Amino acid sequence: LKLGVLISGRGSNLQALIDACAAPDFPAEIALVLSNKADAFGLERAAKAGIPTAVVSHRDFPGDKAAFETAMDAQLRQAGVQLVCLAGFMRLLSPLFVSLWHDALINIHPSLLPSFKGLDTHERALQAGVRFHGCTVHYVRVEMDVGPIVAQAAVPVLPDDDAHSLADRVLESEHALYPHAVRLIAEGRAHVDGERVRIDGAATV
Ligand code: GRF
Repeated sequence: LKLGVLISGRGSNLQALIDACAAPDFPAEIALVLSNKADAFGLERAAKAGIPTAVVSHRDFPGDKAAFETAMDAQLRQAGVQLVCLAGFMRLLSPLFVSLWHDALINIHPSLLPSFKGLDTHERALQAGVRFHGCTVHYVRVEMDVGPIVAQAAVPVLPDDDAHSLADRVLESEHALYPHAVRLIAEGRAHVDGERVRIDGAATV
């Protein structure tokens, strides 16, 4: 399965996907890494791995989100992308892009959805006093951080945690979860069924 990975920054989840795709038996490859920021560190990770990159800056399309998204869509189609993976992509996608990639667009979010949608999830998890936190890979719908869940991983919240230590623990689980979720989809084992994803066979990380 040909992946397009959309990033805006650090790209540690991109790196996890690059590393997973390097294994000979992994059923996906990254056809394009697309960033809306020219200085995203993830672009260096992609270049180092010999993966094609492109930058489509939202700043080149002031006030015209449709044109920005059409330009991204064109790059992805041209590269033969079949599944778009958001990995720290920090622009909200409009209904246009979401419909162009319906059921072919996934995101990783640093919480156990539907808890803690949006930003600052680790701070809010600590404030709420939850004992478990984690991450979710889900198909993207128009509403932010909503959509059929492909996979989740939970981590404990420890008594001495601050937002940084908790974020580190969650991030480590993200790096295992994203390749796992992509594998389920690439192997044809994830079926979107209304608001849920049905998984064939054993499906733990
Ligand atoms: C991750 O925590 C991801 O869940 C969230 O943004 C962060 C991106 O980190 N959507 P990285 O760029 O993959 O290192």
